[in-house]
Amino acid sequence: EMAETAKVSQDELEELREAFSKIDVDSNGFINSNELNDLFKAANLPLPGYRVREIVQELMTKGDQNEDGQISFDEFISIFEKLKSTEVAKTFRKAINKKEGICAIGGTSQQSSAWTLHSYSEEEKYAFVNWINKALENDPDCKHVIPMDPNTDDLFKAVGDGIVLCKMINFSVPDTIDERTINKKKLTPFTIQENLNLALNSASAIGCHVVNIGAEDLKEGKPYLVLGLLWQVIKIGLFADIELSRNEVMFSLLLTVRPLQLIFNPLHLKLKSMSIQVSSFRQNFSITLQNHSSISLILTKCSHIIEDSKAYYHLLNQVAPKGDEEGIPPIAIDMTGLREKEDVKRAESMLVQADKLGCRQFVTAHDVVNGNSKLNLAFIANLFNKYPALQKPENQDIDWSLLEGETREERTFRNWMNSLGVNPRVNHLYGDLGDALVIFQLYEKIKVPVDWNKVNKPPYPKLGENMKKLENCNYAISLGKDKAKFSLVGIGGTDLHEGKRTLTLALVWQLMRRYTLNILEELGDGQKVNDDTIVNWVNQTLKEAEKSSSISSFKDSKISTSMPVLDLIDAIQPGSIRYDLIKSEDLTDEEKLNNAKYAISMARKIGARVYALPEDLVEVKPKMVMTVFACLMGRGMKRV
Ligand SMILES: *[C@@H]1O[C@H](CO)[C@@H](O)[C@H](O)[C@H]1NC(C)=O
Ligand SMILES: *[C@@H]1O[C@H](CO)[C@@H](O)[C@H](O)[C@H]1NC(C)=O
Repeated sequence: EMAETAKVSQDELEELREAFSKIDVDSNGFINSNELNDLFKAANLPLPGYRVREIVQELMTKGDQNEDGQISFDEFISIFEKLKSTEVAKTFRKAINKKEGICAIGGTSQQSSAWTLHSYSEEEKYAFVNWINKALENDPDCKHVIPMDPNTDDLFKAVGDGIVLCKMINFSVPDTIDERTINKKKLTPFTIQENLNLALNSASAIGCHVVNIGAEDLKEGKPYLVLGLLWQVIKIGLFADIELSRNEVMFSLLLTVRPLQLIFNPLHLKLKSMSIQVSSFRQNFSITLQNHSSISLILTKCSHIIEDSKAYYHLLNQVAPKGDEEGIPPIAIDMTGLREKEDVKRAESMLVQADKLGCRQFVTAHDVVNGNSKLNLAFIANLFNKYPALQKPENQDIDWSLLEGETREERTFRNWMNSLGVNPRVNHLYGDLGDALVIFQLYEKIKVPVDWNKVNKPPYPKLGENMKKLENCNYAISLGKDKAKFSLVGIGGTDLHEGKRTLTLALVWQLMRRYTLNILEELGDGQKVNDDTIVNWVNQTLKEAEKSSSISSFKDSKISTSMPVLDLIDAIQPGSIRYDLIKSEDLTDEEKLNNAKYAISMARKIGARVYALPEDLVEVKPKMVMTVFACLMGRGMKRV
């Protein structure tokens, strides 16, 4: 069947993906069948209404379609493939070829001009497999699957037991997953399910958008979903250190702008978009280079600059160690390959030089020549991580106090929002909420209706941009007060717009709290839930399971041992906690943290989507403690 439908080329695939994401506004990976019409339009393939109805009908009878009437990207591709032989598809092809800016994706390389067999990118699979092979090459727990062959479907089989995913999440954000909670030996369907729960809930906790990816999809190794999840995990890891708030050098760099040329000028990038960011950074210190979208935008626009590898040559030459730092031997970059006539050959010899720096990862010569923006972005980010080549400017009048790192709480809120798939992604809690667009999306998640006619949408006019954003913020605050009935005394739109810390946090916390309580209320057939309900349920459940723990409130100091959490987990899923691994009395700080790490990972493993961190338990942070117990209660109520 595969061979029969192997007809979609790489450039079409990119186009279709773009069209799909336009319709799939909440980017959950699915569209409704009644949106199929719009999708065909977006894909430059308008079909008569009756034809669309026929297609939907056909999907239903064939049982291709999910029960809830949703169509995945893969399903859409297969519909598209069937249509391809008809006249309409030719029109589509013509439209693609005419459209500006995407001319270069296919054509030049053997790899991309060949018909691909799958509705996913072979290049991505190839790059991710190599990255994972390297990351986990010495991990004794992965010997059964690593190394994978990047040219086969190894990857999709390898993710099926959840171990590789858990390891990669932990590789991207160290210490996310407690080693002791991964099931490694004699796996059964049940223990595999646990590993996949652990992986998915942990991915969520580090800010991956995992809505609508289930353990089943991973077990079956659905390529499109697996690659999508892996890219998120890898990207979060690659960009973790390219974040302003965590990087003094980067910070000073943005303030001084000039040194930026060091990394970006070799790529002939105009600094214009950067300096816009710098000026708004000065206003509200909100910009992070982690803003992937803007970096990839630059890359897409400049793909013709990357394609010839010349910029990369200069970049490598600049970042390579010169031997002027103690203990770091110089690495000489051989620039003769610049004279190579053919793009692909030039790219290949450039990559040989990159390999000397240990930074060949992510791109093949073809990916460079084709300007694949995702993989080139990863290539540059990895290079930057290994060789930042930036020096903290001396004798400059920089107010380092502006460089306040992100607090744990802020990161947790941010990860929570991102895991719900807000658009654009929130990279900085204060800066990125300044036009309230994300807040509106969160209101919708807690069922507070937003009148989108009242919302100013980007692109904002240059003149009066701040006014438009402020209007949004005012509307957001009034919705909070009037509709959501939040307590927002003394908070105005300006506070949100300007990113005032405490006031913004007050709003964000109430959103997260309501979201958490809503889930419980839905499970409990609409019965109102508050802190007391949860505490009572916790006490009751512990008592019924004959556990000695109890809590008096979310501030109870006993929580710092994590014993109430661990006991509760064992009450919900009897026998799940290995009491031999934990200590219950006279704990040192280290032992408390040890228990807490185990508790948080165990909660995720039994299926609770916990965003809080181990430190929140040790320090008994009441807000985060509340979310932990609420999530566990949700998990407990699902038990039949
Ligand atoms: C997760 O990362 C930490 C820190 O790097 C490490 O100590 C731990 O063993 C890792 N756990 C897993 C499951 O790989
Ligand atoms: C929970 O149980 C503890 C110990 O039995 C008790 O002191 C506390 O009042 C209880 N709290 C609630 C809200 O039920």
